[in-house]
Amino acid sequence: MDTITLTRPDDWHLHVRDGAVLKDVVHWSAARFGRAIIMPNLVPPVTTTQAAIAYRERIMAALPPGSDFDPLMTLYLTDNTPAEEIARAAASGVIQAIKLYPAGATTNSDSGVTDIAHCAEALEAIAAHDLTLCIHGEVTHPHTDIFDREALFLEQRLAPLLDQHPTLRVVLEHLTTKAAVDFVREGPSRLGATITPQHLLMNRNDLLAGGIRPHHYCLPILKRERDREALIAAATSGHPRFFLGTDSAPHALEAKETGCGCAGIFTAPIALELYAQAFDQAGALERLEGFASHFGADFYGLPRNTQTITLERAAQAIPASLPYGDSTIVPLHGGHDIAWRVATPNPHSA
Ligand code: DOR
Ligand code: ZN
Repeated sequence: MDTITLTRPDDWHLHVRDGAVLKDVVHWSAARFGRAIIMPNLVPPVTTTQAAIAYRERIMAALPPGSDFDPLMTLYLTDNTPAEEIARAAASGVIQAIKLYPAGATTNSDSGVTDIAHCAEALEAIAAHDLTLCIHGEVTHPHTDIFDREALFLEQRLAPLLDQHPTLRVVLEHLTTKAAVDFVREGPSRLGATITPQHLLMNRNDLLAGGIRPHHYCLPILKRERDREALIAAATSGHPRFFLGTDSAPHALEAKETGCGCAGIFTAPIALELYAQAFDQAGALERLEGFASHFGADFYGLPRNTQTITLERAAQAIPASLPYGDSTIVPLHGGHDIAWRVATPNPHSA
């Protein structure tokens, strides 16, 4: 198969940031994806419906003219989010999900949840209003080995959470381990999961062997090859509870190439091509459409998109760097070629 036409996909986990850089990043996603779940880990975090509505307006203002991209907003859950705020979020019509960052787990998560028990009323309200809880699934004790944080979260936090809230719809985000894949497969139908392109294409050797590669550093961190293989098997299985979420997370070049670099991989310009590469390598291109364009919408109870996008097998040079406000940003595999490109609609015309 040298070309593949898909229903226009959606990105169920995306960071577009704010301020001057917003217009430099959001157009890449808008040219490909119909909708995206927009992460709320700004400074300060998006903890209220009012703030989410204002953020959505800034995103809309930063889109290229004529774009029909639909940002699906999220609220950042804290220990103190009141149930009434969840009710306001549901009534807003623009907020689809609430994001749970364990405090200290990742970029701008300091105001996150210190103990899920503090959020019982908010979680009940999320379920009652039929919103979705999106979870960064890692335990955060500083003494816990970084490679074990996701697997420990499953048993210590996620299993009890699902038991205590039997109607709550949950997306476990950016799976990185075989343990997480197995947990989702065995979990209830109200448990879905997103998988990033970097976790499908790379393992921890790509981060650490032969030199430290800051542009391959994200959280949860890349794991072992056997984990990557389990992620490929899940994504290409046709199982409807595994779907696309890029976690494209832009940071300026100088924040990545430094003594203590930020976590986050910027994939928005080539994310779809990266997924095509991963599915192609697995001999499963015919399964890409379900994963990228159908299963996420179905899980969220939203209509599938009606437009299409065509990918073709043709080498594309990935820019070594791109504009990012006053700085620049390095996309994943910047300066290298990728074997796929978007043929129609031309993403650069947007
Ligand atoms: O690598 C990451 N970057 N993981 C996250 O969970 C957050 C993200 C970011 O916002 O930069
Ligand atoms: Zn993220």
